[in-house]
Order: sequence, then C-alpha cells, then structure tokens
Amino acid sequence: MNKFIFLVSLFFLVAILGLNNLAFATGSGAKLFKDYYCIDCHTLGHQGGTVGPNLSNIGKTKSLTWIESQISNPSSHFTRGSNTKINGKIYLVRMPGFNNIPDSVADKLAEYIKTFPSVLSNLSYKRPPEGMRLFEKDNCVACHRINGIGGKVGPNLSHIGKTKSLSWIETQVVDPKVHFRYGLGVIIDAHTYLVMMPSFKDIPDSQLNVIGRYLESLK
Ligand code: HEC
Ligand code: HEC
Repeated sequence: MNKFIFLVSLFFLVAILGLNNLAFATGSGAKLFKDYYCIDCHTLGHQGGTVGPNLSNIGKTKSLTWIESQISNPSSHFTRGSNTKINGKIYLVRMPGFNNIPDSVADKLAEYIKTFPSVLSNLSYKRPPEGMRLFEKDNCVACHRINGIGGKVGPNLSHIGKTKSLSWIETQVVDPKVHFRYGLGVIIDAHTYLVMMPSFKDIPDSQLNVIGRYLESLK
C-alpha cells in the first residue's frame, strides 16, 4: 500500500459525539464556527486549521443551501472524503456530519461562511491610500488631525480639500510662510500660541504630489 488511508475524522467524531450533550450557546457566526470545531479543521480569513479546505472564498462559488447540506451531510458532496496533505503525507480525510445541529445554527453558520469574503475585503484587504501612509511617515500626523487621529498643534485637515486646491496645499508643505507669514494662533491648554509650520522644502516632488492629492481628496 503506497498511500496512507487514515480517517482523521474518526478522532474528531468521537470528540464531537462526546460533546453533543453540552448545550451549545447560539451566538454570532464567528462564535458558532469555533463552538462547533469548524475552526479546528478549516481556515477562514487568517485563522484556523488545515485539515479541511480553506473556506475564505467558498461563498463565491457555493450557494447557501450547498453549504448547509455540507454541514449536515458532507457525504452527499464528498462520498469518499478528500485527499489532504498533512505533514507531507497524503491522508484521506472526511468531514464529520453535523446531522443533529439545529437548523437555525446551520443556517447561521452557512450565512456567515457565505458572506465572509465581503466582510474580509471590507476589513483587512482595504489598503490605506499611499498619501495617508506618507502623512504618517513624514510626521504631518504629529501636528494635524484627520478624522480624529493626530495632533492638535496644527489645524484639523479632515476637510481641507473642500477649500484648498492641490497647488495651494503643495505650496503650504514646501513653504508655509507664503500663506502664513507669522504662523497661526493656536490654543493649547487654554493659552494661545503663535505656531509656525516647519517647511518641508526637501520633500521629493513625487511624495509632495502624493500627499497633496490625498489631502485635496478630503472633502
Ligand atoms: C474533522 C475536521 C472537520 C471539521 C470539524 C469540519 N470540517 Fe468541514 N470539511 C472537512 C473536510 C476534510 C472537508 C473536505 C470534504 C469532505 O471530505 O467532506 C470539508 C469540507 C467542508 C466544506 C466544503 C469545502 C469545499 O471547498 O468544498 C464546507 C463548506 C465545510 N467543510 C464547512 C464546515 C463547517 C461549517 C464546519 C463546522 C460546523 C466544519 N466544516 C467542520 C473537515 C472538517
Ligand atoms: C510642527 C507641527 C506641524 C507639522 C509637523 C506639520 N504641520 Fe502643517 N501646519 C502646522 C501649523 C501650525 C499650521 C498653521 C499655518 C502655519 O503656521 O503655517 C499648519 C497648516 C497646514 C495646512 C493648512 C491648513 C489650513 O487649514 O489652512 C496644511 C494643508 C498643512 N499644514 C499640511 C501639512 C503636511 C502635509 C505636513 C507634513 C508634510 C504638515 N502639515 C506638517 C503645523 C505643522
């Protein structure tokens, strides 16, 4: 025999049968995914096991009812289980059927898995704009707030693009004196100070333009 045939699922089945008597709390999809051990075998997003397939994108190809029946009766889709590489060896693994899972729980789980990719792309995969990155890297953020984040020495820039053009902003960064000859009165701890923005005259043009366009987009 040149292939190990090993039903990993038997091991888990025992564990699951043993726990059937416990009253499972019904909660959010994420919690159910843990409570029912799905996460021990399946990765969803950034965490989970690798015994079963990664489910992060399954919502794109499978329907809600397909996922529901996979949960209650996996052998309707995979009669023999499927080949999985574990520590460099191929095993035949089967998903245990959760046939006494309440319908409402199976529904909730299926819905969670089905809609997962969109949740993921909204949260983790949304890269911040390059200009926002430079705004932090060049320390503008030490003095300026955008949407609640940043310092208070300089004006709040959350809506700067409403009133200022790209070239005005670029000039401000390179040579603030053109606009604010004597700086600006700023209240810090109930005292008014005259503060001047330092000039970033050595900033590379390419960076200047990226920051400028980012700030201009803040309407
Ligand atoms: C003991 C490991 C194990 C557990 C626990 C487990 N699965 Fe699976 N799952 C698998 C394996 C292995 C497959 C591959 C198909 C098969 O053999 O049934 C699979 C397949 C699937 C698929 C289809 C994936 C695809 O790409 O076609 C879905 C959906 C799924 N499982 C959901 C769940 C949910 C939801 C739970 C929790 C209620 C769960 N699984 C618990 C091992 C497991
Ligand atoms: C040490 C604090 C400080 C730093 C660092 C700083 N600024 Fe300023 N900024 C100010 C102050 C104070 C003003 C008020 C006008 C002045 O003094 O020039 C200002 C004004 C501005 C304005 C005009 C705001 C308005 O409402 O008219 C813009 C745009 C601006 N800064 C962008 C930037 C960018 C982009 C950076 C990073 C490259 C940066 N600032 C770094 C303190 C700072």
